[in-house]
Order: sequence, then C-alpha cells, then structure tokens
Amino acid sequence: MDVTILGIESSCDDTSAAVIKNGHLLSNIMAGQEVHEKYGGVVPELASRAHQQHIVPVVDAALKKAGVKTSDLDAVAFTRGPGLLGSLLVGSSFAKGLALALNIPLIAVNHLMGHVHALFLPEEEEKKPSLPFLCLLVSGGHTQLIQVNNPLSMDVLGKTIDDAAGEAFDKCAKMMNLPYPGGPVIDELAADGDPEKFSFAMPKVNGLDYSFSGLKTSFLYFLRDRLKEDPEFIPKNIHDLAASLQNTIIKILMEKLIRSVELTGIKEIAIAGGVSANSQLKKTLLETGKNRGWKTYFPARRFTTDNAAMITRTAYFMYLTGKFDTQDVIPKARMML
Ligand code: KG4
Ligand code: ZN
Repeated sequence: MDVTILGIESSCDDTSAAVIKNGHLLSNIMAGQEVHEKYGGVVPELASRAHQQHIVPVVDAALKKAGVKTSDLDAVAFTRGPGLLGSLLVGSSFAKGLALALNIPLIAVNHLMGHVHALFLPEEEEKKPSLPFLCLLVSGGHTQLIQVNNPLSMDVLGKTIDDAAGEAFDKCAKMMNLPYPGGPVIDELAADGDPEKFSFAMPKVNGLDYSFSGLKTSFLYFLRDRLKEDPEFIPKNIHDLAASLQNTIIKILMEKLIRSVELTGIKEIAIAGGVSANSQLKKTLLETGKNRGWKTYFPARRFTTDNAAMITRTAYFMYLTGKFDTQDVIPKARMML
C-alpha cells in the first residue's frame, strides 16, 4: 500500500511544504521572506504574517509538483518545534485543519530531528552515514552534538549554553555592517582573508557543551578599540576579519566534535543545519576526518537550511511506527530531541 505524506515547515522565516511517497521525495517547495533583510535579523511578528500569506500557495505548489491530490494523502506532518511560536502556530494550525478535514493522521515532527534526516536527502546521493553516527547540528537557532542511534532515536551529547553558531556568524556580521544573514557573506569574504590575522577569545565550557556569547563580546570590544584608532578599520580589514572570526567559530566547533569522537568511539561523522554549508567548515571536517580515520558526511546544499523535505522524511518513519498526534498537540518554541 502506498504511503503519501504532506509535510509543512514554518519554524523560522521560510515557509516550506513537501510531499513524500513511500519514502521518496516528490516535491519540496520553499518561500523565503525578504521582509527581514532591512532589520538585520528575523522579526517574529513579520515572520508569522508572511507565513500566513505563503502557506496556501506553497502547499498548493507542493501538491501540484508531486502530482498528488489531497484525497491521495495518508497523513499531514508539521514542525512542532523548536522555533518561533507565532511561526510554528501557522504551520500547525494549517496541518491540523487539513488532517481533520481529510480525516487522516496528524504527525508533529521535531525540527532538530528533521535536520538530521536532511543528510539522507536526496536518496540518489550515495554517501550516507551508517548507524550509529555523530551529527554536529549547526544553524541559526541550534548548536548540538547528536548521537544518532536510529531514525527516531537520537541523544544530545552537548549543546550551546547561550548563542548558536549561526547566531555568532550573524551577530558579528551585523557588527561589521554586513547584510543578514551574515554566515554566507562571511564565508565568501573569508576566502580572501588571513584566518590567523586576529585572534578572539576561546570559551572554556565543561564537557561537550558549547558557548558563543563570549566570542561575540570579545569581537565587539576588539572592533570598538580598533575603530577608536582608525574609523576605517572594518572596510580595510574586512577579509581578514571575516577569515579570523570564521576560523575561531570553526575551532570552537571542532574541539568538542573531536572530544565526542574520543568519548564515544564513533567515527561516522556528519554535519547538518544552515552553517554546515560553510565551505571552510566542510574543508576542516574533511581534513580532520582524513587525519583521524573518520568517515565524513554532509547534507546536499539545498537541504542544509530549513525545508519541509527533512520534516516529511522524519514523518515517514513516524508513520511507519504509528507515531501519530492528536488535535490537541501544541507547538513548542523550546524543545529538546
Ligand atoms: O538551518 P537554518 O536555515 O535555520 C535555522 O534553523 O536556524 O540556518 C540559518 C543559519 C544562519 O545563521 C546563516 O547565517 C547560517 O545558517 N549560514 C551559514 C552559511 N550559510 C548559512 N553560516 C556560515 N557559512 C555559510 N555558508
Ligand atoms: Zn533549522
């Protein structure tokens, strides 16, 4: 019997819908939100309003592209959290309404689990991690070291105690007067810079947890002092600044990743989330992996950022094991795995 699932992702600033049939991705439609660019960050109120405008056309397009009618659907999935509550509410309300109208199961998916599933999309990609594997999930909202035991069982070994890695990119980029989101801009600028030119504070956090707020403060004070001497310091040093900042973020990420491999003995290593698109992080992971005998895995570029395909793939596994939700399930801004 065929299993066709429609999934919706609306946790932050992208509205996305995907259709998966028997585990195969048929469509994945995304609508970004430009309204935030001029504010230098996502404005929650504007995000939920934009989700409301996008959700019907995005779901429509996903069904059309997949060649699927609503009567063909066996379940409706949505991102339960973590994320912006107002944004999550748009996706969850729509999914609940549709599941109720069609009288089919509702599946509430953990967004973090979704990011890990992005590693297995698209299916044609040959190199997939084998279980158990470690996944460093790095995005604008999360920084977590995850041990993946099976598609629906994951343990968080370490997480950030303050800012996320992507937030460090975005906030420091803002201090350099760069546009939002800063991560990709810094990635590009850093290619022509000296990563050792400037050095910033490395955090001292116990165990496998991360911290990025100290780096942010250290970067701010550094810029403030240099700007006193030379108001043109930022534009004159933009490439070296970007490269040195990026280098510090990557060093922080790699330190705990290496320690988690030593502790668990697992050498199947993946990265996921928006920051996993960073070219220098990928290079560093490849080199470190080569030197230490790890097998390394990266999600396809288009599945690194928030998308409904990863949510729907997770939902497919939940469907197979009968993990359904009722109409009173509520979205959660904060949520662990
Ligand atoms: O996964 P994502 O789309 O959203 C969240 O769930 O947070 O990740 C967005 C984050 C932003 O902080 C953005 O700056 C960062 O991913 N990012 C990058 C790169 N591309 C996106 N950071 C560093 N280098 C990149 N190439
Ligand atoms: Zn995300």
